Amino acid sequence: MTRALVALAILVALGGGAAWLAVGGDDAANTKAGATASGPTFDERFPDSRSCQPCHQEVFDEWKDSQHAIAFVNPLVRREDMADGFRKKDCIPCHAPRPVFEAGLGKSARVLSRETARAEGVDCLSCHRVGDGVAASRPGLVGACNPVFRSEVTSTDLCAPCHNQHNTIDEWEASAPALRGANCNGCHMPEVDRPATATQPARKGRSHRSHGGKDATLLASAATIESKVSASDDGSRVLEVTLTNSGCAHNFPTDARHRAVDLVVTLLGPQGEQLGTIAKLGPGEEGGNARLRLRNPYRDEFGKTNTQLPSGASTVLRVPLVPGATSADIRLLMKRTPFLPDAEAQVVSTSTATW
Ligand code: HEC
Ligand code: HEC
Ligand code: HEC
Ligand code: HEC
Ligand code: HEC
Repeated sequence: MTRALVALAILVALGGGAAWLAVGGDDAANTKAGATASGPTFDERFPDSRSCQPCHQEVFDEWKDSQHAIAFVNPLVRREDMADGFRKKDCIPCHAPRPVFEAGLGKSARVLSRETARAEGVDCLSCHRVGDGVAASRPGLVGACNPVFRSEVTSTDLCAPCHNQHNTIDEWEASAPALRGANCNGCHMPEVDRPATATQPARKGRSHRSHGGKDATLLASAATIESKVSASDDGSRVLEVTLTNSGCAHNFPTDARHRAVDLVVTLLGPQGEQLGTIAKLGPGEEGGNARLRLRNPYRDEFGKTNTQLPSGASTVLRVPLVPGATSADIRLLMKRTPFLPDAEAQVVSTSTATW
């Protein structure tokens, strides 16, 4: 062993030892249900996500950076017209849940609300705790947290109790087979490298960032855009912009009603100046010459229909060309709330059509 490796081994041993002490030690005694004369209960050893951190630092860091970790403190969720600081008690279950394995998995399972460490939102135990151990994705593991292999961890059944609130599992089941893959994790928990530890060789893991609509790379993979100029029946020319949900194994956008995706087309003259009439369809829908909105409206928005784009499906925005227009700016925007102005939206993609 080189000196560096020896130092590393000592560090790992010390770190592991400290963690071992911190969680109370004796694995065998603690794998038994409930309190034993020899040590604290599973609940006492693992009250929250921080108790997992000493041995799962990378996973912890990723999770900390995810929407799951902010589910209970997210200002948008807490807003007065939303969960009202969680005075609306029926909002607590999925945003500060008890372990989902407790009430069963799958689409029809209920999620129960947690009384402790609510600020941790969807914490490690929400997804992993099963009995007095943790649900593992691989068989044959040994550790202080008592990992037990449960095949459900790698299936959509784990995500379903919370995510079918907004129909995502139903949408996934109806999605294009080529996109569906094995489950949600192929797209939302990409493979990452886990370094070797004192007892384990280096291996592949899965990112716990749970990348969603806020991740620019994932977002850019959601849809593809094609455009062409064609003559309409009366002889005038029309720019046809086709938007396809080519990258989501569910609707685009999926889930919550406050999400809106806007396809905005702006006709430009030779100097890049905007031509024609600026569209003003309502708050959050101003600018460009034409706009197509993908969204499931709030229940009180009467007269509006659900325009989310199903997996694999296409929709076309037809823009009549005005005299002098030589090109068009095409942008796809993601809005986390529907009334945001374009300038505050996330840009999914931009392109230019010329003719
Ligand atoms: C004292 C160290 C230690 C602590 C603390 C600890 N674990 Fe573990 N955990 C291990 C070891 C060792 C393994 C098995 C080897 C491995 O994953 O590399 C393991 C395995 C796992 C697995 C299975 C990994 C797989 O491949 O599916 C999960 C899930 C897990 N732990 C979750 C947790 C959670 C959640 C907590 C906190 C409630 C926690 N662990 C606390 C040491 C620990
Ligand atoms: C059955 C589970 C469940 C319940 C109950 C629930 N939610 Fe959610 N909520 C979710 C899931 C899953 C998401 C993530 C979906 C997404 O981001 O599109 C979410 C996301 C949200 C978001 C979007 C957060 C963001 O940053 O974009 C808001 C706002 C929200 N919920 C509010 C509420 C309110 C208000 C209630 C109570 C009336 C509630 N939720 C009850 C599961 C639930
Ligand atoms: C083929 C890849 C793929 C698969 C499989 C997939 N998704 Fe997605 N998902 C995406 C893309 C791309 C986005 C970003 C576009 C968006 O936000 O709608 C996304 C966004 C999301 C969002 C964020 C919603 C929002 O409006 O920002 C949630 C929640 C989500 N997916 C849940 C799931 C669940 C649950 C499953 C499994 C049932 C799943 N996804 C399967 C590709 C996928
Ligand atoms: C939203 C649910 C969810 C939460 C929250 C969650 N996990 Fe996981 N975890 C999973 C799933 C699903 C897998 C298996 C993914 C696969 O293999 O497809 C997994 C895999 C793992 C693994 C093995 C793979 C790897 O990347 O090393 C460990 C260890 C683990 N989780 C620990 C934790 C810890 C510690 C926390 C909290 C910091 C946590 N998990 C939070 C769902 C979750
Ligand atoms: C116990 C409930 C619960 C479980 C189980 C769960 N989630 Fe979530 N998830 C949520 C909530 C709540 C949010 C929204 C938090 C917020 O934005 O405030 C969320 C957010 C997300 C997002 C981010 C969406 C965005 O807007 O960017 C993705 C992606 C996601 N979950 C994927 C998954 C996948 C994949 C699984 C299964 C492995 C899973 N979740 C399991 C409750 C859960």
